[in-house]
Amino acid sequence: MSHNGARNLFIFGSLLCFAVLIVLTIDTIGTLDERAPEITEAVNAGKKVWHKYDCIGCHTILGNGSYFAPEMTKAVVRKPKEYLKKFILDPRTINPKAAMPKLGLSEEEADNLIAFLDWISKVDTNGWPPEPILTAAAGKGSSMGQTLFKKHDCSACHQIGGLGGTAGPDLTHIGLEKPDADWHIRHLKDPESVVPGSAMPAFAHLSDEDLRELAEYLITLK
Ligand code: HEC
Ligand code: HEC
Repeated sequence: MSHNGARNLFIFGSLLCFAVLIVLTIDTIGTLDERAPEITEAVNAGKKVWHKYDCIGCHTILGNGSYFAPEMTKAVVRKPKEYLKKFILDPRTINPKAAMPKLGLSEEEADNLIAFLDWISKVDTNGWPPEPILTAAAGKGSSMGQTLFKKHDCSACHQIGGLGGTAGPDLTHIGLEKPDADWHIRHLKDPESVVPGSAMPAFAHLSDEDLRELAEYLITLK
């Protein structure tokens, strides 16, 4: 290649790369507002609560923090807010074996924190963190009840045979502890009617038939 040819290649190559950089930068700036939703007073206050109690000393958020406790970025997407609030205020009311200490937040602090977690969950993170793989948790087999257990994400809070979330009790032997299908139906429809103060979300929206199938599956766990 001649001296001139090499110079032209360098100049036009550089200009082209620069032009691509400018276009991509403009494109990114244009979508910034869509990536992060509006910050309200409550969201702002909630972020301060998050720092005050050093939640990040045990949890990660947007990938930052410690790996001792669950990732919090999509917490409000996976679990009902009422449940999360109860857990934050006093973990042991939900799970007597919870490892998270009672930190002593006020009601207002908890509400602001939920607003902050709600805000964080709406930040576009390109699908990160990945959904936990819980479908294996209900075991093999494909009875109707088992399929419903997977479909309604019961494993997000319950373990069976060592797989699943730890927020609610382990269900590996629930058929021995609670062998009555009708108890389960009442519990699924309205947990507080049989377990006062229960933090388990109600599944009253399920059909009677689905509730029966789920209950029949639960009592087979022994
Ligand atoms: C000393 C460590 C520690 C600190 C500090 C801590 N957590 Fe936790 N947290 C845990 C652990 C461990 C779990 C998992 C459940 C369990 O075993 O308690 C958990 C569970 C949770 C859950 C329930 C998650 C779910 O999917 O069911 C929420 C919500 C939560 N923490 C929020 C917070 C917030 C908000 C703070 C700060 C105000 C905080 N945590 C501070 C250790 C901690
Ligand atoms: C957001 C968390 C959460 C989800 C989701 C959830 N549970 Fe629960 N579950 C709990 C908590 C907390 C308890 C303890 C309080 C109680 O007994 O009501 C519980 C209790 C139970 C119990 C009684 C366990 C015992 O030892 O007494 C059964 C059975 C049960 N859940 C089944 C289910 C089924 C089936 C599903 C899905 C349709 C489900 N749960 C979804 C949190 C959850």
